[in-house]
Amino acid sequence: MNEVKMHYRWTVARRLIHWTTFICIAVLTFTGFYIANPFWFIYSPGTREAYNTFAMADVRFIHFTFGFIFIFAIIMRLYYAFFSRYDADWKSLLFEWFNIKEWKTVLTYYLTFKPYGVPIKSKYNPLQSLFYFLFIVACIFQIISGLVMFTMGQNTIRGMSFMQTILYWFVNLMGGYAHVYDLHRLLTWFFIVFFIGHVYMILAHDVGDKKGTVSSMISGYEAEKE
Ligand code: HEM
Repeated sequence: MNEVKMHYRWTVARRLIHWTTFICIAVLTFTGFYIANPFWFIYSPGTREAYNTFAMADVRFIHFTFGFIFIFAIIMRLYYAFFSRYDADWKSLLFEWFNIKEWKTVLTYYLTFKPYGVPIKSKYNPLQSLFYFLFIVACIFQIISGLVMFTMGQNTIRGMSFMQTILYWFVNLMGGYAHVYDLHRLLTWFFIVFFIGHVYMILAHDVGDKKGTVSSMISGYEAEKE
């Protein structure tokens, strides 16, 4: 008879970072789309005049608040990737997706849900590694572009504010503020696509490996078959 042994996979900190990031992205996507196009909920029905409503200011406030929580969560994620004593995974994130030999097996696995034939030496398989690597890169660009826009109006009588000066290289790199906005909006779509792909992959693991991957991000434990 198969005896199920539980394996501790996610520390409390990693789980907290995961769910904080998830909530932030959900709120930031929603409020971000509202900022780009105020499609809904103004306070005073009957009049859609801006001076009668202040919903945009509130929504922007929520966006910035969650933006800074998001920045904190991503800094913590990067800190854990490099310095966690239990699960520092930077090597897996940076290099595992170069493992060309495993790609065919990985793609077959995600398409057929058949058990993964190759024993996993690294924390992530190549597709997970590529996905999470791109996610972190997208987060960094989203944070920089967000901060650039956040400081955009901070000119003082003496010129640019300190933060603006520090971040101005990014405006030059992008070729102007308009392109910074475009990048921020484009990356929002990356997060939406990432979310769909991520959920698909997690479900594939749940169905394929039967290790309880979905609930492991809540309980911290994943099953190991013996
Ligand atoms: C996953 C994270 C994020 C998502 C999905 C997101 C999404 C969006 C979207 C869709 C817009 C509208 C862009 C447009 O008008 O074309 C926006 C605007 C903005 N976001 Fe973000 N954002 C995120 C993170 C951040 C962060 C970390 C900050 C930094 C504080 C930030 C600051 C801003 C600012 C300043 C604006 C412009 C507000 C305005 O023009 O009134 N965002 N965001």
